[in-house]
Amino acid sequence: MRKQAAAAANIGLHSLIASADSRVLGGDRVADLVRWKNNANTGRPFLEWSDLSTNEAIAVGLEPFRTHVSNSHDGGLQTVVVAHDETLVGIGIDTVYLPRIAKRANRPGYLLRLASMFASPIELDQIRSHLLISDEADHTFVIALYFSLMEAASKALGVGLRMGLGMGRSASVPKRSIEVDTDLQCVCIRFLGPARDAYDRCRAGTTKAVWSVDGDYLMSLVVLQDCR
Ligand SMILES: CC(C)(COP(=O)(O)OP(=O)(O)OC[C@H]1O[C@@H](n2cnc3c(N)ncnc32)[C@H](O)[C@@H]1OP(=O)(O)O)[C@@H](O)C(=O)NCCC(=O)NCCS
Repeated sequence: MRKQAAAAANIGLHSLIASADSRVLGGDRVADLVRWKNNANTGRPFLEWSDLSTNEAIAVGLEPFRTHVSNSHDGGLQTVVVAHDETLVGIGIDTVYLPRIAKRANRPGYLLRLASMFASPIELDQIRSHLLISDEADHTFVIALYFSLMEAASKALGVGLRMGLGMGRSASVPKRSIEVDTDLQCVCIRFLGPARDAYDRCRAGTTKAVWSVDGDYLMSLVVLQDCR
């Protein structure tokens, strides 16, 4: 199956489409000019520009290294975001196929057990209070939102998350070092410890986080911009 998602592109290249199987950004000519790669150490995706496309970008006043990409796949959907801005230092997207979590949500205590695998004590308190006042039908969404925003933030940092049992990449940060604070509408993200170090290393100064639900999918987007 060819899974694709349109990218929010503002980089002077038209028809950017990501193909999940070839991982080459599409359009007849664009495929020769820009290639999708992942950093060997961190896994972070980036666009490798040919000399020609670099020159073209510079000619129209764009800085290729300010073009960031992120992707996520779940439940058969491949989501890709591409963005260019002179203030941009990182972007992360995460998609959750809600039925994947919902099918287990009626098991007693399942959602809170899931939350306790990644949430900090402060997040857990907030999650519990959201669960108390929201409809049962929304409980899956509440847990998924915290998880998804944390994942998107880790991708925007370019480090990913440390998994259990010592697995994961050396640059990855512990889950509890990214703290989500939300009233289920507005979102504030706090970077602590190793995540804060990564935030400072990429010279980020502003964090923006948004989410939306479309049918069975929850999508979170985190954007890091420099301090200017
Ligand atoms: C990066 C990370 C956050 C990926 O998240 P994921 O939900 O497993 O997978 P997604 O489909 O959303 O994203 C995968 C994409 O992230 C991108 N990615 C990988 N490492 C990345 C990094 N350091 N920075 C930015 N993006 C990265 C890759 O392009 C990858 O695409 P690919 O699989 O096609 O190569 C991963 O490091 C991670 O830590 N996952 C934790 C999973 C976990 O702990 N689950 C238990 C839940 S309690």
